[in-house]
Amino acid sequence: MLEKVAPTGIKKLDDALGGGFSRDGMSLIVGPSGIGKTILAVQWLAEGARNGETCVYISTTIPAEAVVIYYGKMKFLRDVADKIYWYDMYISPRDLIPFTPKKILQIFPSIMPEFFDENLNLKKKIDRLVIDSLTTIEEIIGDSSMFRYLGATWIRFFHEKKIAALLIEEMDESKEKMGEMRNFSEATIVMDHMENRNMHMRALRIVKRYGYNHPTYWMPFHIRDEGIIL
Ligand SMILES: Nc1ncnc2c1ncn2[C@@H]1O[C@H](COP(=O)(O)OP(=O)(O)OP(=O)(O)O)[C@@H](O)[C@H]1O
Ligand SMILES: [Mg+2]
Repeated sequence: MLEKVAPTGIKKLDDALGGGFSRDGMSLIVGPSGIGKTILAVQWLAEGARNGETCVYISTTIPAEAVVIYYGKMKFLRDVADKIYWYDMYISPRDLIPFTPKKILQIFPSIMPEFFDENLNLKKKIDRLVIDSLTTIEEIIGDSSMFRYLGATWIRFFHEKKIAALLIEEMDESKEKMGEMRNFSEATIVMDHMENRNMHMRALRIVKRYGYNHPTYWMPFHIRDEGIIL
């Protein structure tokens, strides 16, 4: 049996999250371009893979193969890159018509037939899953209430299949958008650039983590070959 939480392997972050991200629901990472969202998410997958869990990464932007080449050289991923399942998800609006739950979920057997049959049954268990990022899908759909419906449908599906899902959303420059999926998440982490005495810093903040009295302050972090260092 797996623990109730799926640790990131980043000690300070796991402590702040009450052990890690919940396996009983979806977690969300929100932040601007280049802040380290993909690294944090892949580090979480690498930690799972290192412990023998089945971990899946789905890219909606650059080809997953490029993600492996780009981050696979980094120390945190090097030893387990080939244990993670890497997929691409390219959706056109046509793939989502008619906009029914069945159609919205059909994308999963179509991109990963090793894991799902046509009736959406799991052929093989998935422990951890990352979608990087939902923002591309939001742009394709172009309607925020429809996007939220798709998100809610996917999230319910992962929950049913007992998959710990970590979703990523881009934050735009205006910082007005804090992640359309935030209301559906068990935990939300915001990552952002900070200016401190003319020094640029990266920091992250746990916005919420249900069922745990987490710190809410900004925690500075660095990106190194080992991944995110808090
Ligand atoms: N080996 C490394 N050592 C230190 N920093 C690195 C290393 N590799 C990448 N970085 C830093 O990580 C940043 C990219 O992080 P990441 O790809 O996770 O960002 P992101 O939030 O996913 O961005 P996007 O929204 O564009 O996908 C780079 O801008 C770079 O500053
Ligand atoms: Mg990224």
